[in-house]
Amino acid sequence: MHQGDIKKVLFTADDLAGVVEDMAARINADYAGEKLLVVTILKGSSVFMADLIRKLDVDVELDFMVVSSYGSAAQSSGTVDIRCDLRTDIAGRHVLLIEDIIDTGLTLSKLVAELETRDPASVEIAALMIKDIEREHAIEPRYVGLVCPDEFVVGYGLDYNEMYRQLPYVGVLDEKVYS
Ligand code: PRP
Repeated sequence: MHQGDIKKVLFTADDLAGVVEDMAARINADYAGEKLLVVTILKGSSVFMADLIRKLDVDVELDFMVVSSYGSAAQSSGTVDIRCDLRTDIAGRHVLLIEDIIDTGLTLSKLVAELETRDPASVEIAALMIKDIEREHAIEPRYVGLVCPDEFVVGYGLDYNEMYRQLPYVGVLDEKVYS
């Protein structure tokens, strides 16, 4: 990993900390007195989740999922394979899905539909970023931190070929890295 791989810093560590703080305050207000099941969709969302939960003062349990999605924004269909499912029975639980970035919306639209079949008390989405694009897959995240330009972004959990996840900021990857 080289410093020059990042063309531009989009969101600094301070920007991200502010977004996390604001979102956590809203979640604390909305779920006051409730117990939350925070479900992280690995791997990218792990960094955001780790920062977010440390700002929550409601009771929190954690679980994790690994999913793979196939499809593109141009397709109205697509599939999501659950590679590693929850270990928690979510019936009657308030589920908060944590996502680092919503791109086509395929992953979350399929996942929410699947989780709804398990009779949770509620399923909501907390997304750090949403791409500024037209979406084929309707999705209604309750919490969205930032609108992200339609560029190849890495850092704060997001990768290119599993690299750059540890950057404390979100930046645009230079084309020379992947062209
Ligand atoms: C990314 C991101 C979302 C998904 C969003 O995960 O974390 O899960 O893609 O894309 P969509 O809205 O078009 O479905 P990725 O598959 O890159 O896995 P990773 O988090 O392990 O890097």
